[in-house]
Amino acid sequence: MNEMLNVVVDGLWCQGDRSLAVRLVSASGEALPDWEPGAHIDLHLPCGLIRQYSLTGENRADSYLICVAQESASRGGSRYIHQTLRPGQKLLISAPRNLFALRDDGPVLLLAAGIGITPLYAMLLQREATGRPFVLHYFVKRREEAAFLRELSRPLSHGICVVHCSAEGDSPRQTLETILSTPDGEERIYTCGPVGFMTAVRDAAVKKGWPQTHIHSEAFAPVTPTSTPQDEATFTITLASSGEKWPVPANKSIAQVLQENGVAVPLSCEMGICGACLTPVLGGVVDHRDTVQSAVEKSAAAQHVALCCSRSHSGELVIDL
Ligand code: FES
Repeated sequence: MNEMLNVVVDGLWCQGDRSLAVRLVSASGEALPDWEPGAHIDLHLPCGLIRQYSLTGENRADSYLICVAQESASRGGSRYIHQTLRPGQKLLISAPRNLFALRDDGPVLLLAAGIGITPLYAMLLQREATGRPFVLHYFVKRREEAAFLRELSRPLSHGICVVHCSAEGDSPRQTLETILSTPDGEERIYTCGPVGFMTAVRDAAVKKGWPQTHIHSEAFAPVTPTSTPQDEATFTITLASSGEKWPVPANKSIAQVLQENGVAVPLSCEMGICGACLTPVLGGVVDHRDTVQSAVEKSAAAQHVALCCSRSHSGELVIDL
């Protein structure tokens, strides 16, 4: 189980006309755990929801900063933060977890869309502070909705930042092709934003010859089911340690079946986007439904299954529990 921290909402302020920055400080006054750009926390909201948000801004020991967009199709988390959360409120959060860390010191191309700017803004600040090269392209519909626009407009010494507004005729569709140069072997792409944007980035980059292993992405959006419960086949989930096995019917996740049978499962987002429930697979063929693992990880010899959402292509899946 990930370490839990008690924090207090220290401040809330607007970032653009549809996002809210939230500063969290330790309730005890002790320093908060260190984090690296790309890390996220689980925010346990008093309304019972748990949501994942990237840490952003500077890495400080006394506070964490997150930024939350107002989502018209909110499943409750964004609405609660925008309408109900107030300074002084106490919250429970997880310690930072990083599934989107910068892999090395080489040059990076950061491609953000919408609220996907949050982890990439932290990456930009770290690169700038340590004198390592970067280029950030930030895509928004309207300039007024851009978060951290004032901060991103300051002069930079080690990289450049370009804001693209589709309302001004500068959309990813028109621009990606141009800004993605031929890969130089060392440079890596880090992209965050809506799934459609990240797919467009990946497709355009692969077309230009970028290896999949140099394209890193993170999406905080639920997996869209590609089949209905009627289409799903029942399969057997087996614990390698004890040999216990149970059927996983169409209307239940592996995690639900395990919990019903008294097996502790580390769960957080329950949408395949955080990685908390990833478990090694020792036998069978995983039907991957998560977005937390890359295409390369999903086709690697050593397989992990997201217990909250993935299923099985084979009749039985043996997991390392
Ligand atoms: S609980 Fe988040 S990926 Fe399964």
